[in-house]
Amino acid sequence: SFAFDAESEAKIATIIRRYPEGKQASAVIPLLYVAQKQMGRQTGSAWVPRVAMDVIAERLGMPPIRVYEVATFYFMFNTRPIGRYHLQVCGTTPCMLRGSDEVLRACKDAGGLKGYGDTSADGNFTLTEVECLGACVNAPVLQVDDDYYEDLDYESTVRLIEALKRGERPKPGSAIGRHSSEAAGGAT
Ligand code: FES
Repeated sequence: SFAFDAESEAKIATIIRRYPEGKQASAVIPLLYVAQKQMGRQTGSAWVPRVAMDVIAERLGMPPIRVYEVATFYFMFNTRPIGRYHLQVCGTTPCMLRGSDEVLRACKDAGGLKGYGDTSADGNFTLTEVECLGACVNAPVLQVDDDYYEDLDYESTVRLIEALKRGERPKPGSAIGRHSSEAAGGAT
């Protein structure tokens, strides 16, 4: 079963207030996001189980099928359990031209991953290919959960992954100190 915890309920109260009566179905995306975050806090795997979608449907007074549709349509929602860290490699042309292959290779080598869609045996990492994250000016970009790491190469990506394994969370942004679009935020 699934129930929102106090931290999530506080966020939900704010979200619901933003939508007028009768338009609260629009809150489905932010609520899915709150559920995914909570799962990450509680289990180390940020995903949205079906039971959580049912809770959201009931909360918003909408048919569960509509919530399932939204959850499976948007790439930022994980509808299956994922690793503690979600490594999302941008594979769109600007990142590709600036070495996203090396970022991918580093993720595989350091993270113990076979390829896209894989979760490492230690449960630490899930690897996904994503499309342009809007940070091409600092390509290539790797998104870890909601954080953007930019201007990466093989070595800096390996260092990042090794730090994550130690439970550290290096500062997001440009690996070579350039101005970063990270402040604009991730998939929120
Ligand atoms: Fe990778 Fe735009 S192409 S961030």
